[in-house]
Amino acid sequence: MSASPIRHRPRITSVTRVEEESTDVKTIWFRDEACLDAQPGQFVMVWIPGVDEVPMSLSAIDVDGLSAITVKRVGEATESLHKLRVGDLIGVRGPYGRGFTIRRGRCLAVAGGIGVSAIAPLVERLADAGSDVTVVYGARTGSELVLVERLRRSSKRLIITTEDGTVGQKGLATDPLDTLLDEGFDIVYTCGPEAMMYRVFLEADRRGIPVEACLERIMRCCVGICGSCVVDGVRLCVEGPVLGSETLRRLEEFGKFRREFSGRLVGI
Ligand SMILES: Cc1cc2nc3c(=O)[nH]c(=O)nc-3n(C[C@H](O)[C@H](O)[C@H](O)COP(=O)(O)OP(=O)(O)OC[C@H]3O[C@@H](n4cnc5c(N)ncnc54)[C@H](O)[C@@H]3O)c2cc1C
Ligand code: FES
Repeated sequence: MSASPIRHRPRITSVTRVEEESTDVKTIWFRDEACLDAQPGQFVMVWIPGVDEVPMSLSAIDVDGLSAITVKRVGEATESLHKLRVGDLIGVRGPYGRGFTIRRGRCLAVAGGIGVSAIAPLVERLADAGSDVTVVYGARTGSELVLVERLRRSSKRLIITTEDGTVGQKGLATDPLDTLLDEGFDIVYTCGPEAMMYRVFLEADRRGIPVEACLERIMRCCVGICGSCVVDGVRLCVEGPVLGSETLRRLEEFGKFRREFSGRLVGI
């Protein structure tokens, strides 16, 4: 029997740094060999001993040999991640799935909420490749904006939107798209709430601009056998979580339905 690749095996590592990004978001740094080769948009399964194992996008990849996840506190597992201190142990499997393609050219990246955790390393990688990147980043309110300095440093233009107008333009991340997309882009990347990504896809697709969207579903095995993450027959843990326009166009559930733990389809 051939040995499974190192990335499929759980590794124990310790937390090397914790950064408080906002009241509800922390970035947790760790050292892991397999994560150093990850693509932006790929994710890891993070095991918090005695609590749970949850999927997290890599929000930083090989920064002086370290990687990071940026975690929004929403329930028990993420609350436990927020309690971690330097030196505490976590388990890591992955990186899993397909990440974003790095294109040279005029790129637009649209991030919503904690979706910025996958977009920040993407924008940095695109800038390193010599691309000209415009970023639109939307949040509900100014105090929820995170990783903004990283986006600002690597983009040519950063447009911030907040629903309450406390920072940047008042409204949704999709509001500036109508005029922006007419400027002409070679590709549009997006990660965030699915309703937002669906809108981004529709607007870009009708102008013939290719889209890559990072979808989120329940992830368990992450090796394509349990079926938890399937969207219209596409296994997000293997064929995604980043999907391109051709696949997005034929998905009936995208932007409309997701599966609960029971497998039941519910509206988004
Ligand atoms: C590919 C991917 C990347 C993600 N990246 C990030 C990120 O960068 N930052 C971030 O803050 N969040 C990210 N998430 C969402 C994150 O995984 C969930 O917020 C987290 O699992 C919630 O766990 P909880 O116990 O704190 O919350 P609850 O909502 O209370 O979760 C209840 C239960 O659901 C499970 N659960 C919830 N969502 C998922 C899921 N998608 N897959 C498997 N189990 C789940 C939890 O393990 C727990 O057992 C990502 C999800 C996916 C699929
Ligand atoms: S998480 Fe098991 S098939 Fe994708």
